[in-house]
Amino acid sequence: MTHPYTHPDAEPLKPLNWTGIEPPVFAGAVPNHVAIVMDGNGRWANSQGLPRTEGHRIGVDAMLDTIAGAVQAGVRNLSVYAFSTENWKRSPAEVRFLMGFNREVLHKHRDQLNAWGVRVVWAGRQPKLWGSVIKDLRVAEELTKDNTTMTLAMCINYGGRWEIVDAMRRMAEDVQAGRLKPSAITEKTIARSLYVPSMPDVDLFIRSGGEQRTSNFMLWESAYAEMVFDDALWPEFSRVNLWNAIRAFHSRDRRYGGAIDRASSSS
Ligand code: IPE
Ligand code: IPE
Ligand code: MG
Repeated sequence: MTHPYTHPDAEPLKPLNWTGIEPPVFAGAVPNHVAIVMDGNGRWANSQGLPRTEGHRIGVDAMLDTIAGAVQAGVRNLSVYAFSTENWKRSPAEVRFLMGFNREVLHKHRDQLNAWGVRVVWAGRQPKLWGSVIKDLRVAEELTKDNTTMTLAMCINYGGRWEIVDAMRRMAEDVQAGRLKPSAITEKTIARSLYVPSMPDVDLFIRSGGEQRTSNFMLWESAYAEMVFDDALWPEFSRVNLWNAIRAFHSRDRRYGGAIDRASSSS
């Protein structure tokens, strides 16, 4: 397959099920929006006697496998946390590596994502982020814009609080320009002002690496998400871990604040 955007570093295309593993039959509807904190790369690398950056390299295989598994399972929206607004605190060398590496990932894999019917969108803020990374994100967005199988939000220089701040700023500008009345602001107005307005609320929030915290991911969107924490370090994660998380999701009772009176009949 040739395409005007095909990059010389692009890897050969693989079918979705290149591992030969098929998803299980799920007990319910597949979560519409899955958000993943891909955590544990550095610890994995250090445990192998390698520098942290090697964990990021291997972590990409886990990401591609998980994306393929999400498409196989029928997930329509997937958000992956690749670089947070707090990750600038890391050593200059690691930050520099991650910036260059995100570009490399986009170059090498955008044709693959395109071939799987994935629409790539960027969620994050512009200040501080390398212009070259933003340019590559835009190329991936343009290349994949007509795809409808799954939307993949690449969350780079993303922070949940900043996302809300940026939405507030946009709304304040609308108020100042007379386009928006403060009394007309609702939850919907805010949701429409987030980075990817077309993305629905998160149904399933997964974090690898054993920590049980959000680290500022999808704060607004995850108000009623089911949380699944997986001890696997990100390079050890695969589509099977994703499917197991979907299984756990199906065992949850989502009440959204409501209640059903089910008196036990055993007496
Ligand atoms: C997550 O892995 C990837 C990024 C934040 C870019 P970490 O780099 O946080 O790995 P740990 O948590 O230190 O093991
Ligand atoms: C969250 O992981 C950010 C990403 C996975 C990109 P961190 O490793 O940055 O989170 P903390 O520091 O453990 O909270
Ligand atoms: Mg971490």
